[in-house]
Amino acid sequence: MQKIKPSFIFQHPDIRKMPYGGDYNPEQWPEDVWEEDMRLFRLAGIDCVTLNVFSWAALQPEEERYSFEQLDKIMDMARENQLHVILATSTAAHPAWMAKRYPEVLRVDFSGRKRKFGGRHNSCPNSPVYQNYSVALAQKLAKRYGHYENLIGWHINNEYGGECYCENCEAAFRGWLKETYQTLEEVNRVWNTSFWGHTFYDWDEIAAPNLLSEHFEEERTMFQGISLDYRRFFSDSLLANYRAEYQAVKNITPTIPVTTNLMGFYKPLDYQKWGRYMDFISWDNYPSNETPPAVTAMNHDLMRGIGKGKPFALMEQTPSVTNWLSYNALKRPGVMRLLSYQAVAHGADSVLFFQMRRTIGACEKYHGAVIDHAGHEHTRVFREIQALGEELKALGSQTMGSKTPAKAAILVDWDNWWALEYSAGPSCDLKYLDEVERYYTACYKQNIPVDIISTEDPIDGYSLVILPVLYMVKDGFSQKLKAYGMGGGTIIATYFSGIVDEHDLVVLGGYPGRLRDILGIWVEECDALPKGKENSFFWNGKQYPAVLLCDIMHMETAKKQAIYESDFYAGMPVISCNQLGAGKAWYIATRSSGEFYQDLIRHIARETGICPVWAPVEGVEITERRNETFRYLFFLNHMEEETAIAMELEGESPLDGMKYQKGEQAVLPGKGVMIYRVKIEQI
Ligand code: GLA
Ligand code: ZN
Repeated sequence: MQKIKPSFIFQHPDIRKMPYGGDYNPEQWPEDVWEEDMRLFRLAGIDCVTLNVFSWAALQPEEERYSFEQLDKIMDMARENQLHVILATSTAAHPAWMAKRYPEVLRVDFSGRKRKFGGRHNSCPNSPVYQNYSVALAQKLAKRYGHYENLIGWHINNEYGGECYCENCEAAFRGWLKETYQTLEEVNRVWNTSFWGHTFYDWDEIAAPNLLSEHFEEERTMFQGISLDYRRFFSDSLLANYRAEYQAVKNITPTIPVTTNLMGFYKPLDYQKWGRYMDFISWDNYPSNETPPAVTAMNHDLMRGIGKGKPFALMEQTPSVTNWLSYNALKRPGVMRLLSYQAVAHGADSVLFFQMRRTIGACEKYHGAVIDHAGHEHTRVFREIQALGEELKALGSQTMGSKTPAKAAILVDWDNWWALEYSAGPSCDLKYLDEVERYYTACYKQNIPVDIISTEDPIDGYSLVILPVLYMVKDGFSQKLKAYGMGGGTIIATYFSGIVDEHDLVVLGGYPGRLRDILGIWVEECDALPKGKENSFFWNGKQYPAVLLCDIMHMETAKKQAIYESDFYAGMPVISCNQLGAGKAWYIATRSSGEFYQDLIRHIARETGICPVWAPVEGVEITERRNETFRYLFFLNHMEEETAIAMELEGESPLDGMKYQKGEQAVLPGKGVMIYRVKIEQI
């Protein structure tokens, strides 16, 4: 038997190339269509299907009765046709009888309205009925299908998300609080309930924070501490559902890896915590035509970071259109291929679609699919899928299991995201991801690979750690950061940082609180600039704008690098740098332009010896994966126009076999992709 590389996400001896295929719903079609599907899959090089995503109603048509005959047939068909199967547990939409008999499975929404049966992703995670029946179904599926040798992975539920404020959730919230804080005194302390006479005398006085209680808008709450803890609690509630199903299938099939499909920067769930309980990370990538490629790249890097740098699965993408945007534009010719390789470039080891065959009714009937309503292979989309299928076969396992080495890291923290946007702080335009994206894009444009890390991840191996608006600094993190700086690391921190602890309570004694001695500054005030208002500063001979927020700060041990040019704080520092042992800690006290962020990152990369993967080429994303023997460089041309690249290294393109000598030009067509393999010894 062939040895499986431990770095492969699907630990299955037959997997010698990236799984290609995706969500397949034969239960929505008469059986004579299935045979035609098999023919078309073969034609397109499809070798992997995700089955059973929304079949609970069919599998358990009555409370006491399960029915697996149809799924048996589907599973057998997949096996006979050499299709690998990622089997979903079907628990993302409960059956109608369950909602009727046990209304507790229905959620209560943010406005306090009890939902009726409808939609999907609609079950209350704290309903004991939902908990019991979802786990029972997962268990039955594992018992029945666990022995299929073509089963390569479990897909628990589907895109966990949403919220609930029902009585079961409220009670569970109180339980979560008890477990987290032990005493009501401590709850009163961390929520600062002496404000507005909110003191709680008994646990059952605590209400779920929504429009009926603490909120006056989705993101605006009168008690940030309560709302923040509810977010933590609710993410944990759904995680508990996932973990219960995980355990159910794992007990029966210990060697089959388990995942659930994530959604990139999805605010309601703390994916960094979820990642600890997933055998591998998988996610659904749905950029619109207007999404900047840097943002898609950033989402991939987040997913890779959540999996601690290991490859992840691209679980879904549309082959052509979605149905849920306002303008569901077609993916232009070549773009499906380009985005597939972009995922691979950032660490994906599979290319999977939603969906195989376009359904005839309900809200996804115009969603893109491998097989269109026309029902045959003579479509542009099918031809593109078929061509990519051939390429992936030829590429085989070459890139699989390889890593993406990065010397720069950007810290992203869900608690910080939640707290910052609840903060009722200086500006309603302050959005966490905007700032993360600015720093990420600056690195991206210079082909500097970035890891997106959490506060729990080790940072010692990086030359640069960027902390966009780290408003909340949790216990222990500042010590870790200080040790990193003292040991020679470089830190970039930004405005409105270090303000609160993990309970959203202000750290007294001067901002930026726990970061103050690391950054060597004292921030006295913070000015919010309404849209259209600007300040400015000069740095390294160039003028840049200062917008959104302007911290007014004093140097303690840091040295000022630039000053504000106008307003009453003209002449006061806007950029500082603190020598911290062998390292440096920069503070950027305002938001500036894309050009500034690029110049800053270029300057610091040079200082810290961070090398770009390749010199920047306008419109072309260049990134890298590597194993012990090869570097795989990905050149992704996001422009319409073709472009030429001067090859700096000798190597070969595994997609078309082209070899290049040093100095030769490679031509990359508009939306084109080149993978370039370079032997490591050469460098
Ligand atoms: C999500 C879901 C799929 C499907 C697609 C449509 O990713 O997981 O079931 O609804 O969206 O884009
Ligand atoms: Zn609930």
